[in-house]
Amino acid sequence: LCRGEREKEKTLAIIKPDGILGNYSDKIKNIITGYGFSITREMRIQLDEDAVRSFYAEHSSKSFFLSLVKYMTSGPILVMILEKDNAVADWRKLIGPTDAEKAKVTHPQSIRAMCGFNMERNCVHGSDSTQSASREISFFFDVQDTRHDEL
Ligand code: PPS
Repeated sequence: LCRGEREKEKTLAIIKPDGILGNYSDKIKNIITGYGFSITREMRIQLDEDAVRSFYAEHSSKSFFLSLVKYMTSGPILVMILEKDNAVADWRKLIGPTDAEKAKVTHPQSIRAMCGFNMERNCVHGSDSTQSASREISFFFDVQDTRHDEL
């Protein structure tokens, strides 16, 4: 980084199995770049059960956890690091509410309204805070510069 050059905020985005199956990857990536995010890293992978359990550990006591694990291991996903000012909040806004079925009514322009189906098959993930973003980015990527500079 050059002197005086500020590091942009990062967030983690995932296109989930239903998004990949429905062939939404290119469309979603075009939306992402159209809104001024840079996709600085990306990786297509299929997660095993241990990886999903660990990634969603904070939800392990929820009634839907087993179903979520089964869904997230059902096919390949596309994991991306997105960068721009206010990346975390702006990406969450762009994807819309968790329940894609409701999003179709309340947030018809959102990504989940476009390609999701319900609370589980909601097509995309976004980190919910800068702290979550740091954890989730290091979960998938070997990076040194995952700090969200508040210096
Ligand atoms: S919570 O309970 O408010 O913390 O849940 P929420 O933040 O809305 O969702 C957390 C992730 O769990 C998924 N989810 C579900 N999966 C299956 N079935 C049901 N009922 C369900 N409810 C929530 C939801 O898609 C969230 O995934 P991510 O990848 O974090 O968006």
